[in-house]
Amino acid sequence: MMAQNLQAVGSVTPSQPQSQLDADAGQAYFDHVMAEDSRIEPRDWMPDAYRRTLVRQISQHAHSEIIGMQPEANWISRAPSLKRKAILMAKVQDEAGHGLYLYSAAETLGTSRDEMMGQLVAGKARYSSIFNYPTVTWADMGAIGWMVDGAAICNQVPLCRASYGPYGRAMVRVCKEESFHQRQGFEILLELANGNPAQKQMAQDAVNRWYAPSLMMFGPPDDDSPNSKQSMAWNIKRFSNDELRSRFVGMMAEQVRVLGLSLPDPEVRFNEDTKTWEHGPLDWEEFKQVLAGRGPCNAQRLERRRQAHDDGGWVREAATAYAAKMAAKNEAAA
Ligand SMILES: [Fe+2]
Ligand SMILES: [Fe+2]
Repeated sequence: MMAQNLQAVGSVTPSQPQSQLDADAGQAYFDHVMAEDSRIEPRDWMPDAYRRTLVRQISQHAHSEIIGMQPEANWISRAPSLKRKAILMAKVQDEAGHGLYLYSAAETLGTSRDEMMGQLVAGKARYSSIFNYPTVTWADMGAIGWMVDGAAICNQVPLCRASYGPYGRAMVRVCKEESFHQRQGFEILLELANGNPAQKQMAQDAVNRWYAPSLMMFGPPDDDSPNSKQSMAWNIKRFSNDELRSRFVGMMAEQVRVLGLSLPDPEVRFNEDTKTWEHGPLDWEEFKQVLAGRGPCNAQRLERRRQAHDDGGWVREAATAYAAKMAAKNEAAA
């Protein structure tokens, strides 16, 4: 695929540093890669807007993984058994790993992790609205795994084919782990749903609480999502927000029957004419408020992140001092 691209654009090679490329030739190469549905790699020429869009999307995604650790970490010490604690701890650790892959992918676009983390702790960066909701019972661990990680899978599987190489490759591993997260959440709900009436009710309440916020994870409706069209033209996004949401609702509608629970939405149905799943109206005003920082836990999540960042300051200082010491040692030996 790459060899074909090279032939098509003559002297432009993807590994040349950006400064050596004439912008027209770079654009021609980029357009060709898009038309071929091939991949752009870090040293390839790319339009500034493409780079900016990716940095924004990948860093928001990384922030979501990192902030997303909080609502579940909240339950590690209260998990009902040693086995549940170990599973939940592993899951929260996976989310930290996802954040790290994604910060690394974003760094290949020329923005440092320090800068991205600085924007997050300053409250200037966005992350998924879902993580600003509280986790009030153990059943929320089940609902988050099944619904929130489930929505993440619907969103992220198509991103494995994203046109930016490091992002797509990070997504492949992330998605494998998300599948495990979803299964563990489903299993928590299944056990509760087959428990006593109070446990079953606890599972149903959690599903009721997380249903609408998880549907909103796909972002605003298509007619109110101005950047989606461009992201689709750049082969970053493959399906629209509404398409992905509908697919997710279908998945939930099938699986909820196995749980013996129900979705809190009487309008969920499969439309035989359009062959798509439909759902009832969502409160987009609430979505906007949560994104704007006025959700139930926004302040708490950011404060916790800031504190963790400050607490880790000595590790960064020590690593910097060690790197300087090693550099001086190598210089002296040379
Ligand atoms: Fe994740
Ligand atoms: Fe996950």
